[in-house]
Amino acid sequence: MQLNDFQKAIVQGIPQLLPKLKTYNPEVNHAPVRKDILNADEKKLALKNALRYFDAKHHNILAPEFAEELKKYGRIYMYRFRPDYKMYARDIEAYPHKSKQAAGIMLMLQNNLDPAVAQHPEELITYGGNGAVFQNWAQYLLTMRYLSEMTDEQTLALYSGHPMGLYPSHKDAPRVVVTNGMVIPNYSAQDDWEKFNALGVSQYGQMTAGSFMYIGPQGIVHGTTITVLNAGRKIEKDGEGLGGKIFVTSGLGGMSGAQPKAAVIAGAIGIIAEVNPKVVHTRHSQGWVDEVFTDLDVMVARIRKAQAGKEAISLAYQGNIVDLWEKFVQEDLYVDLGSDQTSLHNPWAGGYYPVGLTFEESNEMMANNPEEFKIKVKETLRRHVDAINKLTAKGMYFFDYGNAFLLESSRAGADIMKENGDFKYSSYVQDIMGPMCFDYGFGPFRWVCSSGNAEDLDLSDKIAMNVLEEISKTAPKEITQQMQDNIRWIREAKENKLVVGSQARILYADCEGRTKIAAAFNDAIKDGKISAPIILGRDHHDVSGTDSPYRETSNIYDGSSFTADMAIQNVIGDGFRGATWISIHNGGGVGWGEVVNGGFGMMLDGSADADRRLRMMLHWDVNNGISRRSWARNEGAVFAIKRAMEAEPNLKVTLPNFADDDLIEGCF
Ligand SMILES: NC(=O)c1ccc[n+]([C@@H]2O[C@H](COP(=O)([O-])OP(=O)(O)OC[C@H]3O[C@@H](n4cnc5c(N)ncnc54)[C@H](O)[C@@H]3O)[C@@H](O)[C@H]2O)c1
Repeated sequence: MQLNDFQKAIVQGIPQLLPKLKTYNPEVNHAPVRKDILNADEKKLALKNALRYFDAKHHNILAPEFAEELKKYGRIYMYRFRPDYKMYARDIEAYPHKSKQAAGIMLMLQNNLDPAVAQHPEELITYGGNGAVFQNWAQYLLTMRYLSEMTDEQTLALYSGHPMGLYPSHKDAPRVVVTNGMVIPNYSAQDDWEKFNALGVSQYGQMTAGSFMYIGPQGIVHGTTITVLNAGRKIEKDGEGLGGKIFVTSGLGGMSGAQPKAAVIAGAIGIIAEVNPKVVHTRHSQGWVDEVFTDLDVMVARIRKAQAGKEAISLAYQGNIVDLWEKFVQEDLYVDLGSDQTSLHNPWAGGYYPVGLTFEESNEMMANNPEEFKIKVKETLRRHVDAINKLTAKGMYFFDYGNAFLLESSRAGADIMKENGDFKYSSYVQDIMGPMCFDYGFGPFRWVCSSGNAEDLDLSDKIAMNVLEEISKTAPKEITQQMQDNIRWIREAKENKLVVGSQARILYADCEGRTKIAAAFNDAIKDGKISAPIILGRDHHDVSGTDSPYRETSNIYDGSSFTADMAIQNVIGDGFRGATWISIHNGGGVGWGEVVNGGFGMMLDGSADADRRLRMMLHWDVNNGISRRSWARNEGAVFAIKRAMEAEPNLKVTLPNFADDDLIEGCF
C-alpha cells in the first residue's frame, strides 16, 4: 500500500463504507476461544455496546456478524475492520499528525500489534495470553484517528482501549492517559474480567501491552539474563559460572520466549518446554531456540552431551512441561536451576495446559467444558510440583518467575507450602531482583528510535555505554556488579541481534544512569547526530511502577505489600512531571486483581522542554519506589535514598528508625 493510502486510512478512522468481510486466517496464532460467560440479556448488551461505534445504517449487517463472533470466540473483535495495510512501526514521519508526540504514540501502538511482535495480533493481544492493546478493531481505528488530528494542547482519554475522546489540556500534559481494567476492588475476580471483557467495557492490559511499551522479547531477555546470572551466583561454589549447568523452565511465548536466549547469553544450557507448536516454530525460526525435540529419550541424550561439553545452548521440548520434569526425575538427571513461565496468571483461559491432553483437546475443553478443564489444570499443577520437589530435594535451586506459579499451585492443593504457611520456594524478586536491583533503583529502562534506522540505535547504544562507563568510575561498591553487568550487556547488545519490531533497546539503570542517558540522547537529537526523536519508557516491572505482593513488591516485609499507593502515586506523579503518556492497570503478570501497575512513555525531541521534563519525571519515577522500599526498612533502599538526598537537596524523604528485635519480643 502506498504511503498516501496508509495515511488516508489512518485519518479516516472507522470507515464510512463497510470494508469487505475478512476471512479467519488459521495460519496466525489466535487467542483461545473464551468461555461463554454472559447470560442472554448480557449478550444483547454486549452486542448493543459493540454497535455503538457504527452508524445505524450498518447495524443490519453488523449485528448478526458480531453476534456470531461472540458465540464463536466469546468476544466481539470486529475482525471485518482489521486494517488492510501492514501493521508495523513505521518511521515517525509516515504518520499523519499535528503533534509529533502523538505520532510517536501511533508508532508504538503499531509496534505492539505487529504480527512479528504480538502474540495474537488479530485479537489485538500483544503478550501474556490476554494482554490487550484494544478490545476490538473499532477502538484501534478511532484511536489512530484521534491521534492523527490531536494537537499538543489536547489529551486523549483511553478507558480500557476505548477512546473516550480528546480533551483540551496543555503542552506539558500527557497526550494520552490510559487506564486498563480499573474496577471497583470487590469486582476483581477472574470471572469478573471474563464478563466485563465480553461485554466490551474493560480489558486486561497486562503491563506493557496496554501501554504500548512492549518491545518484543528483547525487553525481557535482558531481565532474564540478569536473573539467570544472579541465580547462578546463588548456586556457584567457587565463582565457576554457569558453564555446563542446566536451567529448566517452560514457555516460549511473549516474555517466556526470552529464556533460551538469556540462558545462552549467561553461558548455561537452557531447556524449555512449550506445548504450542506454532510458538515453538516462531522462536526456532528466529534463532532464539537452537534445537527442537519431540522425543524425550533423544532429548535427554542430547542434554547429557551438552553437559559434558559445557555447551551454551538452548533446547526446546515441544510438549508439556510436566512430562519433561517427570522424565528428568525418572532419568535421575541433575538439574541446577529450575523455574516456570507458563501464563499461570491466566490459568483457566489458556495460560496453562494440562498434561495428558493434546493442545487441541485442551483448547476444546477450555471453551466447552470449563469446569472439567479446571480440574485437569489443578491435577497437573499437583504433579508439576511433585516432580519439582523431587529435584529440589537433590539440590536444584527453584524460583517462581512471577507467573503466579506458587500461588496457583497452592490454590490447587499442591505440596508447595512449608509448615509455617510460607511457600517452599522464593520468587525471583524476593531473592534476586528486589534486593539486588529494585532497592537500589535499578530497573528496565528502554528506548525506541523513531526513525526506524539501525544507525540511530547503534549510536544510542554507544552513548548509553559511555554514560554507564563514566558513572561506574565513581560508583559505590554496592552497585558495581549491576553497573558491570549492564555495561557488558550494552556492549554486546548489537551482536546478540535482539531487535524484533521497532529499533529498540533496554538496559537496567538507576536514577542517575537513566537521567544521564536520556539527557545525552536529547543532546544528540538536538545536534542532529541522532536523526529523529527517541521514545523513552520502561517495563512496568520496575522499582516504583508496580504494587504486586507476589512479585515486584514481594520483598517488602512491613505488611504494606498488599497496598497499591505506590503505583497510583507513581502514575499521577509522572503525569504532571512531563510524561508523554501514562498508564495504570489492574492485572499484569500475576493476574487480574492481583496487581496494580503503571508505566509511561516520554518523547525526546532534542528540545529544552524535553530536557526539563526528563530530569523532573525520571527523578520521581525512580525515587518514589526507593523511598517506599526504604520506609519498608530494606537496607539497600535506605542506602540509595540517602545518596539521592545528598545529590538533590530538594529531595527530603522520611527515613525509618530501626526497632530492636529483643525489645519487641519482650513486649509480648
Ligand atoms: N520473563 C519475565 O521476566 C517475567 C517476569 C514476570 C512474570 N513473567 C510471567 O511469565 C508468564 C509467561 O509470560 P509470557 O508473556 O511468555 O506468556 P505467554 O502466554 O506468551 O507464554 C506462555 C507459554 O507457556 C506455554 N504453556 C502453557 N502451559 C504449558 C505447559 N503445561 N507446558 C508447556 N508450555 C506451556 C503456552 O503455550 C505459552 O506459549 C506470565 O505469567 C508472565 O507474567 C515473566
